[in-house]
Amino acid sequence: MLLLHIARTIREDLQNAREHDPAARGDIENAIVYSGLHAIWAHRVSHWLWTRGFRGPARILAQANRFFTGIEIHPGATIGRRFFIDHGMGIVIGETTEIGDGVMLYHGVTLGGQVLTQTKRHPTLEDNVTIGAGAKVLGPITIGEGSAIGANAVVTKDVPPEHIATGIPAKNRPRRQSERIKLVDPDYYTASDPVDYSI
Ligand SMILES: CC(C)(COP(=O)(O)OP(=O)(O)OC[C@H]1O[C@@H](n2cnc3c(N)ncnc32)[C@H](O)[C@@H]1OP(=O)(O)O)[C@@H](O)C(=O)NCCC(=O)NCCS
Repeated sequence: MLLLHIARTIREDLQNAREHDPAARGDIENAIVYSGLHAIWAHRVSHWLWTRGFRGPARILAQANRFFTGIEIHPGATIGRRFFIDHGMGIVIGETTEIGDGVMLYHGVTLGGQVLTQTKRHPTLEDNVTIGAGAKVLGPITIGEGSAIGANAVVTKDVPPEHIATGIPAKNRPRRQSERIKLVDPDYYTASDPVDYSI
């Protein structure tokens, strides 16, 4: 039963990688080369250990994960299904972060705290949120369902659902109707008349 669940989850993660990255090719290759996949798989194990009281081993595994992938996810962070990190490297996800389903992060993202007290101090990302490269999302704020944070934004206040936040400090604007599709849609890159990128 557990093995079946693990196999299903791995298959879903691999399919998710294909959907989110136009550069993704075969599943076997993706399973070997994608740091974002390695990071979430290691996190699922470290979170399992953390929630069962094996906190030392959980921290050690998370630290090994960081060493090999450049992605630091505290074992206490709660992460939903179909989570994808593209490009990996330089990512920090704090202990009390809560992440819904279908969330995507690019490299250089921080989901961090602003206080040093042991309270809920990290962000909550609702379902289908995308966080652009280098963005910093700080404090126990909520990024609403279907919203996106622009590259390099610094966000310290709630973002309502279906909004886009950009800049420092970030400003919110409603997502236009034309943008209510996946921000990274492979169809954009795999048009029937493909561009020849060879030089
Ligand atoms: C924020 C974002 C989602 C907006 O996408 P969009 O709605 O298509 O935005 P547009 O390109 O139409 O730009 C709208 C305006 O926002 C500005 N803008 C876009 N992204 C911005 C950003 N990250 N920071 C500040 N301003 C930004 C544009 O310059 C434009 O300004 P203008 O109206 O004065 O001309 C997108 O630009 C973004 O940052 N995505 C993250 C993608 C990423 O990290 N990719 C990494 C791949 S390796």
